[in-house]
Amino acid sequence: MQEQESKEPPVDKPLSHVAIIMDGNGRWAEKRGLPRQAGHREGVAAARRAIETAKELGLSHLTLYSFSTENWGRPESEVRDLMNLMRTYIESDLPKLVSENIRIRIIGDKKTLPADIRLLVNRAEKETADNTGYTLQIAFNYGGRDEIIRAMRALAQDISQGAVSPDEIDEQKIASVLDTGDAPDPDLVIRTSGERRISNFLLWQAAYAEYIFLDEYWPDFSRDVFLRAVDDYHARERRFGRRNAG
Ligand code: IPE
Ligand code: IPE
Ligand code: MG
Repeated sequence: MQEQESKEPPVDKPLSHVAIIMDGNGRWAEKRGLPRQAGHREGVAAARRAIETAKELGLSHLTLYSFSTENWGRPESEVRDLMNLMRTYIESDLPKLVSENIRIRIIGDKKTLPADIRLLVNRAEKETADNTGYTLQIAFNYGGRDEIIRAMRALAQDISQGAVSPDEIDEQKIASVLDTGDAPDPDLVIRTSGERRISNFLLWQAAYAEYIFLDEYWPDFSRDVFLRAVDDYHARERRFGRRNAG
């Protein structure tokens, strides 16, 4: 069989979308003899640093994994702390995000969130909808499989009503019914805390992302740590199944 050489130039490595699994708040706190809640609070400070640095890096999208569909399985008091942190984060930071021209989008199942949080996140999306800076996607009550289930149900509904024909289902169609909609796929997924797994994060979207696993616990995530991860990303060769010229 004739070898098929791509005529395209070597694959370039723009960096538009970084997605982060913010892990290790609990261990950060335990190491200091503090309650886990203190770790989650410091985690919010680290998220603010990441949001600043993303702007500096000129990203178009930053996605932060804040609460997974599996995190409901934690003790009730911890779930309550995490819900409260989301409430206070949006209430305190929304004006700043609006003025910094950042667009907010929540990915995850909004329907099963406490009603007041649902209202808050809807408000955050609405108030920042016309912003033209970068997009901050907060994955909250998010699970990759849950997202695919909800998307497939929506698609099946459209098919059963004759609005979509099965032949129209392709990668673009599936991507468009996911929570991430028209957002580009992440180029880079970073996970902190030394764990090397993806824990149900962006299963469809991160099919060809580069993965960087860092040992730092999330509350220790700084601008420098972020910049180092970006350098590491740029030193890699992305191939997308093709062969680069050489
Ligand atoms: C990440 O930190 C925050 C959430 C998952 C909500 P963890 O709470 O998972 O901290 P560790 O992994 O137990 O240290
Ligand atoms: C992943 O961290 C979810 C978030 C960071 C929100 P977890 O701590 O929940 O993941 P596992 O349980 O270690 O896989
Ligand atoms: Mg964890």
